[in-house]
Amino acid sequence: MVYPRFAATAAAPLLIASLSVSCALAQKAEKPLPPPVTAAQLKAAALPTHDETWWKHAVVYEIYPRSFQDSNGDGIGDLNGMTQRLDYLQKLGVDAMWIAPMFPSPQVDFGYDISDYEAVDPQYGTMADFDRLVAAAQGKGVKVMLDMVLNHTSDKHKWFTESAASRSNSKADWYVWNDGVPVDKAGVTDYQRKFAHDGMAPPNNWESLFGGSAWEWVPARKQFYYHKFYKQQPDLNWRNPAVETAMFNMMKFWLDKGVAGFRLDAVPVLFEDTQLRNEDTVVASFDAQHNALTNAQGDPILNDNRTNMLPEVHDVLRRMRTMMDSYPGNRVLVGETYLPNTAELNKWYGGTVLSKTAELHLPMDFLVGFHTEGGGPNSPNVSLDLKHLRTYLGEMETTLGDNWPLLVFDNHDNVRSWDRFSRPDQSDVQKQAIAKIIATMLYTTRATALTYYGAELGMPTTTPSRVEDVQDPIGKTGWPKEKGRDGERTPMQWTAGPQAGFSTDPKTWLPVPADYKTINVQTEQADPNSMLNWSEKLIALRRSNPALHDGGFAMLNTSDPNILSYVRTAPTGSTPVLTLMNMTAQPQTISLDMKPVDAKMTKATTLASSDPSVSGTQMLNSITLPAYASWVGSLQ
Ligand code: GLC
Repeated sequence: MVYPRFAATAAAPLLIASLSVSCALAQKAEKPLPPPVTAAQLKAAALPTHDETWWKHAVVYEIYPRSFQDSNGDGIGDLNGMTQRLDYLQKLGVDAMWIAPMFPSPQVDFGYDISDYEAVDPQYGTMADFDRLVAAAQGKGVKVMLDMVLNHTSDKHKWFTESAASRSNSKADWYVWNDGVPVDKAGVTDYQRKFAHDGMAPPNNWESLFGGSAWEWVPARKQFYYHKFYKQQPDLNWRNPAVETAMFNMMKFWLDKGVAGFRLDAVPVLFEDTQLRNEDTVVASFDAQHNALTNAQGDPILNDNRTNMLPEVHDVLRRMRTMMDSYPGNRVLVGETYLPNTAELNKWYGGTVLSKTAELHLPMDFLVGFHTEGGGPNSPNVSLDLKHLRTYLGEMETTLGDNWPLLVFDNHDNVRSWDRFSRPDQSDVQKQAIAKIIATMLYTTRATALTYYGAELGMPTTTPSRVEDVQDPIGKTGWPKEKGRDGERTPMQWTAGPQAGFSTDPKTWLPVPADYKTINVQTEQADPNSMLNWSEKLIALRRSNPALHDGGFAMLNTSDPNILSYVRTAPTGSTPVLTLMNMTAQPQTISLDMKPVDAKMTKATTLASSDPSVSGTQMLNSITLPAYASWVGSLQ
């Protein structure tokens, strides 16, 4: 698993140093896009389907608990804060909230290091607060989903403290332990030796995604344990059936409380190679003088073939799906699945919807929204690359068969889409128009929409400017190449008042960004052209318009270099919906070729337009869109 923010690919090794949005695009080589999809796939995707399963039409809203709303004035968000803001979520049209981990945790990785899976961290509230939140949310038609961290626990979890105490205890085999190898053994590298203890080096070259060796020495056992992430996050041993039973029981605990489903954290990395073979060095991680390049944490750049996407994970997911499906109400499994291509993504569904081999309902498609390839000197914005978006949106809609796509552009681990899809030298007006394009793709394609708090407002990333202000540990160890993830985790901006209405405490856990005076819920609600009103309008349309709700998907004018266009075909008795987005900084005119859907249509009526100059009825043989405009219309 590689976050786009860490991506170092054969084509673009320099990208690791380009987490700051001002990356040197011109240095990036263009990666060939996958071959076009077949006519049969296109035809199948164009057919409308009617299926009321709630999560297929849902807008899922990710809440980072520390940052959404503080109700008790300690500068940190909490569960009661979420309850207070349910009216807002309901008005926005959110169907489900996914709460990033709110379980007891030493907070090394801000909750992704869990020390008790069946309780609430006191800084976020109590179990009674949680139960109240679920009940109140239900009353507003908002479901609650939780984040399940299955790959690892905190090193303070009682399972780990027991496991680490000796080689013979009831949890001795619950984590991934190894003796290591003598430092002078043939093949042991200098890098491994750096992490040696008592004459023993880690068993191989595996690295933590967050820096350093993935192996940590425990004197009491005279052994190393494996950790994909921080050393305070030891990996569970999923080859031990007792681990699976314990984790499934814990999931049942929350399902019994009425949670609607789970987002499965880092699920592709549940298993490791049993032979502990070394990872390979990425071929392109050498500079022109053949010196090995290192990543932002100073480690060699390696593949992760031995610790990512091992086939055994699919057996676990099949059993987990059976467990989930034994509950009523269409509980849902969403996966954090950073995968290299759509064919690989398809595997995580495990088969067709009704087949016995089903796995995740909704593995996340990061290929559309977290684009790290392509670009090149002629591409204006690396992510807003029309060819890339057309290819991957097209693949998402045409090649997953019965499986249902989940589209996402923002989360708590990556620079916000506001900054990734625009360039620093663009004006706020342009940036906002681009953000509206992203919302348009998110809400008008045939996919479950996953959004992240603040994206609906156009909240930019606010990266710390001094290392001493950084909270996220990878930002401290990786500074200045990797400044951490604080920038996308700043407090939600509710009002233009003190602390943006997030907290009464002037010392919020991360500073409120300076732009809160103009970018906030209150101000944007009053402005008809705001990002918030655009988001709300599209979500409402997605719910009420039959074609956006149930329609099939067909891409139009696939060779147009400037405008992305597609149609949601209509169920019987309703009209298809056309979506157009100008991906360039100049006005562009398009003449639509309607053959893929119905050649007879000649015009369309505006349903939503990001620019007032495109309104009313538009003729399909000539529609002009201003720079970066988005437009949605009903075909006639
Ligand atoms: C996931 C989370 C990330 C966390 C990591 C380790 O990728 O999204 O925030 O640091 O897993 O749990």
